[in-house]
Amino acid sequence: MNSTQKFDVPHSAFLGGSKRLLIGGKWQQASSGKEFGTVNPATGEVIARLAQGDATDVDRAVAAARHAFEGEWSRWTPYERQRLLMRVHDLIEKNFEELALIETLDMGAPLTRTKALKNWASQVILFYASQTGAGGTSTPHHSLPGQFSAFKLKAPVGVVGGIIPWNAPLISQWWILGPTLATGCTAVLKPAEDASLTALRVAELLQEAGMPDGVVNVVTGFGREAGSALAAHPDVDRIAFTGSTETGRKIVEASAGNMKRVQLELGGKSPDIVFADANLDIAVPGAAMAVYGNSGQICTAGTRLLVQRSIQEEFLARLEDFSSKLRVGNGLDPEVNLGPLISRKQLDRVLQYVDIGSKEGATLASGGKRLGGELGSGYFIEPTIFASVNNEMRIAREEIFGPVVSVIPFDDAEDALRIANDTDYGLAGGIWTQSVSTAHRMAQGIKAGTIWVNCYGALDPSVGFGGFKMSGYGWKGGSEHVESFLYQKAVYMNIA
Ligand code: NAI
Ligand code: MG
Repeated sequence: MNSTQKFDVPHSAFLGGSKRLLIGGKWQQASSGKEFGTVNPATGEVIARLAQGDATDVDRAVAAARHAFEGEWSRWTPYERQRLLMRVHDLIEKNFEELALIETLDMGAPLTRTKALKNWASQVILFYASQTGAGGTSTPHHSLPGQFSAFKLKAPVGVVGGIIPWNAPLISQWWILGPTLATGCTAVLKPAEDASLTALRVAELLQEAGMPDGVVNVVTGFGREAGSALAAHPDVDRIAFTGSTETGRKIVEASAGNMKRVQLELGGKSPDIVFADANLDIAVPGAAMAVYGNSGQICTAGTRLLVQRSIQEEFLARLEDFSSKLRVGNGLDPEVNLGPLISRKQLDRVLQYVDIGSKEGATLASGGKRLGGELGSGYFIEPTIFASVNNEMRIAREEIFGPVVSVIPFDDAEDALRIANDTDYGLAGGIWTQSVSTAHRMAQGIKAGTIWVNCYGALDPSVGFGGFKMSGYGWKGGSEHVESFLYQKAVYMNIA
């Protein structure tokens, strides 16, 4: 299972040295002068030093974003913003090899995976480029007397604070940059302390594309310093947050000061349901990668794998076989399927859940151990299967964020639905069946923002996604997302 393959370590001039904050178009040190090291999780080595931005830097960045919002940028037409997004698109495509490499070195995902995001990045940027006309004026039908004219104006909400996690920054930053640039808002982006590098490189490319100074500012630093200052800032109009439910709650509390708009995409404990009539040739690899993909560090991961009791034995045997063939190792190795976890802290957390699951009485069917040896001191863990899990157990209720699957048996569709919905979360759900009516019944019944049938993880930026219950609120992608970066205003005129 371990990777023994030798591979080249490609070079990027961007790596190494000290990185700065982007505030008002200028790259600058943190006002405190402090820096911290950011680590490659496959080796444990520091690969760059990041400026440790704090509340003072956030203040400066918000002021720069406000200044830009009121300035020249506010006079850009939708056409001009669209042209900017097109230039950004072309530069991102041109530099994608480098971006994929930086992402892999910074957060561990296999290079095959990060490179494959090129298409996705292109699609998402072009989607937002197509939405620049969403503001402006519309004239609704109305029932007012003839001497009245009524219309609606839409205007950008203003300064957006974007706080993103480390599990897929090359994806998550676009849910902020795309609608910000499309609508004429400005932003202060606070990437995660464990993986900030692609956000910094993308910011360079935004400048190269001709983005006016201050439209997007990037403040690296810790959540408790830079993140909390941004969430509480009285001159930030909207917060877009992706991360843990615990931090999401703090963001909501911090937003109350100035009633800023909040969009939250939080944790999940998504059910992935395999019926006895499923085509197991696609359901086994599909359900396995629904939880192992990105080493389990995906908010929509299908971590509660509900399997109909009559196929339990066969399914488990095939799942174990599939898992045993996955290669875990340094993401630069083209043969590797699963990279390391992001950090020592995350590794300890996942190993602790393995312990909890065993103590709770679930059957550890395979995996569960840290992988060292020739993999060195990276944060690697085996793909892990718990069988005979009861939905009351902590491993079935809490987000683990590692390649750990809890297999839960069920009897019939009603039973599956009851278990699927018995959770605090509601981000996603999967269904594997050949019955159209089962697929429809379950898709209607599962209380979650995205349902996948005979697939898992498909995402179209024009459709988007969001959560039910404690998985957060607000919709990312689609026209609803763009609307949420706009204020609406009604104008009534007596023209008699
Ligand atoms: P986190 O939610 O604390 O971090 C996400 C982002 O929020 C980072 O940029 C961080 O700097 C920032 N942040 C932290 N505290 C903040 C605060 N008080 N105010 C404003 N911003 C703050 O998540 P963390 O600690 O990295 O991971 C812990 C667990 O969270 C994981 O094990 C996983 O279960 C969950 N998680 C879920 C994600 C998702 O996409 N749903 C993504 C990352 C983590
Ligand atoms: Mg890192």
